[in-house]
Amino acid sequence: MRSLIERLHREHTLASDEFRVLLSQCEEEHLSFINALAREVSLANFGNKIFIRGLIEVGNCCKNDCYYCGIRRSNQLIERYHLDEDTILACCRHGYELGFRTFVLQGGEINDDEMMIRVVTSIRKEFPDVAITLSLGEKNTSVYERFFQAGANRYLLRHETHNDLHYRKLHPEGMSLSNRLRCLDDLKRIGFQTGTGIMVGSPYQTIDTLVEDILYIEKLQPEMIGIGPFLPHHDTPFAKMPSGSMKLTLLLLSIFRLMHPHALIPSTTALATLAPEGREKGILAGANVVMPNLSPVVQRSKYSLYDNKASLGAEAAEGLLLLEKRLEAIGYTIDKGRGDYSAH
Ligand code: 5AD
Repeated sequence: MRSLIERLHREHTLASDEFRVLLSQCEEEHLSFINALAREVSLANFGNKIFIRGLIEVGNCCKNDCYYCGIRRSNQLIERYHLDEDTILACCRHGYELGFRTFVLQGGEINDDEMMIRVVTSIRKEFPDVAITLSLGEKNTSVYERFFQAGANRYLLRHETHNDLHYRKLHPEGMSLSNRLRCLDDLKRIGFQTGTGIMVGSPYQTIDTLVEDILYIEKLQPEMIGIGPFLPHHDTPFAKMPSGSMKLTLLLLSIFRLMHPHALIPSTTALATLAPEGREKGILAGANVVMPNLSPVVQRSKYSLYDNKASLGAEAAEGLLLLEKRLEAIGYTIDKGRGDYSAH
C-alpha cells in the first residue's frame, strides 16, 4: 500500500485496479501516510496559505429535482428566496471590505440568465480586481459564453458521478450525465477555470464508480476539484441514507491532491458540517481553499442543501478572525489574493 501511494505521488496516476485497491484497503496508518504526502504537496505549491472565497447564495429556487438535494423542486417545505441585483452587489461590497477577492455566486438552477449577466457585468465594473466564480448549474453554450464575456472567470459544476447508472439513481428523468459533461467541456473550451467534483458516499456510489470519477477528473484536468461528504436532508427521498464518511473524504482529497498538485481544492462546508474539526482535517489532507458564507444572514438557513449546514462562526464571512485563529492553530494563514489557478 505504501509503495502504491508513493507511486501515485511520483507519477500522479495509477491503473484502475490499483485505485480500487487504494480505495478499498486503505487502513488508518495508510490514510495518515497519504494525508501527510498530500499535505506536503500543498505546502510545496502554495506554502502554508489558504485561499478564501466569499460564497454568495443567490437563490434557492430550482427547476431540478435531484434526489439528494434539499432545495429540489419537489420540496415544498422550504421558503424560497432569490437575491436581487442590489443585494448581491451589497454582499460583494461587504466582502471586498473584509478582504475577499473572489466571489462565488451559487444558486439553484433557474432561467433568469439575463439578470445574472447583468450582475456579473456590474461586479466586474465595480471590482475590476476580483475573480468572479459562478455555480449556477447547466446552461446552454451561448449562456456560458455570455457569462464569460460579462467578466466571469470561473465556473463550478460538479459532475456528481461519471457512471450513467449511478447518475440515474441520483437524478430524475430529464437530467442526463451527457448534458452535464457537455457543459463541462463547454466551460473548459470557453476559457473558464473550471471546477468539478462529487459527493463522497452518495447513495449507490461504489468503489468502481469512484474509480470512474477519478479517471474522468484526470482526463478533464479541472482547475478546481470540489468534494465533500454526502449529507442527508430530511425532506428528500434520501433522508434515511447514511452520510459519507470522514475517512473516505480525506482519502479522496489526498488522492486528488497527489494527482493534481496545482488544483484548487476546497475543504468544503459539508466536511466542516460532518465533524467539528472537518475543515482542518481537509486542509491537513491537502485542501487549500475555504469558502466562508457571505450571503445575507437572514437567508442563510434557507439554502439548505443538507441538514445542519454550517454557515456561522468560521464558516461565515463575519467569522474571518475566528477562521484565521483556527487555521493558525494548525499552522496555516489566510491568503487574501485572488488565488487563480497556476501550474507553476
Ligand atoms: N449533501 C452534500 N452535498 C450536497 N450537494 C447537494 N446536495 C447535497 C447533500 N445532500 C452538493 C452537490 C452540488 C453542490 C452545490 O452541493 O454536489 O453540486
